[in-house]
Amino acid sequence: MAQTDFRTPALDALAARIIPREHFVFSTETARDKFFNDTRMLDVKQWVHNVFRTSPTSMVDHMVDNLALTGSEDLLDLGCGNGFILEHIRPHLADGSITGLDIAPAVLAAAKDRLNGTATPCRWIEGSADDLSMLDDNSFDRAMANYMIHYVPDLNRCFTEVRRVLRPGGLFMLTTDRPDSMLEMYDVHFAALEAMGAPKDLVKATPKGRLSLENGQEQLEPYFDEVRLISWQDQLRFTDPAPFMRFYEVGHNHCCASSEEREGVDGEFLSELRDRVRAQVQEAITSKGHFAVTKFTGSFLCQ
Ligand SMILES: C[S@@+](CC[C@H](N)C(=O)[O-])C[C@H]1O[C@@H](n2cnc3c(N)ncnc32)[C@H](O)[C@@H]1O
Repeated sequence: MAQTDFRTPALDALAARIIPREHFVFSTETARDKFFNDTRMLDVKQWVHNVFRTSPTSMVDHMVDNLALTGSEDLLDLGCGNGFILEHIRPHLADGSITGLDIAPAVLAAAKDRLNGTATPCRWIEGSADDLSMLDDNSFDRAMANYMIHYVPDLNRCFTEVRRVLRPGGLFMLTTDRPDSMLEMYDVHFAALEAMGAPKDLVKATPKGRLSLENGQEQLEPYFDEVRLISWQDQLRFTDPAPFMRFYEVGHNHCCASSEEREGVDGEFLSELRDRVRAQVQEAITSKGHFAVTKFTGSFLCQ
């Protein structure tokens, strides 16, 4: 099915104007103890990305295509979260196996519950993606790391380890975003911050800038014989500000502004920020019929 191209000269110009080169850096500890100490953030993100998309092909459909499964592969999922992706991939592994690894016990438990009782054997490991010492050499046909690599402290060790545990001919899929993905969300966020005279360092684009679709190829090439990028787009469209605001507040920590404790960014500040963001979203809905958030995302396929 042909993909819709949501890029327009106006969106490109907006990206060039608002997306800064800097990016947020979060530690594994912050991920484990703050963002993923329950499944709320993941639940909200997955719900919004699925329910408000306009592409008939879901994120998981793209992943299933990319993984080219025959049904009997052993799959390793680094940073498996609450198992949402694994649940959808599992029927394609009826005679294979699943190993899910995550640093955060709460989401790992949710993944385990989600796949409980299915016929595909599953193993769950609490740990960091840059230490796979519990796994044997040449033990997987597929490995994947979806929307999580920006949290991993030692990327050199992680990619070396992935190479080690993959069988010859095996495939590693790393999925992430372009830095300007969801730029309409950053636009309303930055405009609100600016109007409030907020600290300048809150104006950073995305936590994924560390390894994005823009700079991932050169970071992966030293570890694999072949690295291929498959990218795709989608556009979330909202005709009511309420679901977008849940996504913005819980799913993205106010575009990362509320991810870490900091002076001046208190409840009152965040409440005003939300009011200002909501007003812009409502204005877009009133004038254009919907508020659009364009996604530029994709996977590196490494062999
Ligand atoms: C945005 S979620 C993505 C979850 C899942 N891959 C998905 O796409 O739905 C990031 C996940 O990475 C996990 N994580 C963070 N740092 C990690 C690390 N160093 N090793 C393994 N998992 C980590 C988090 O606990 C969280 O579940």
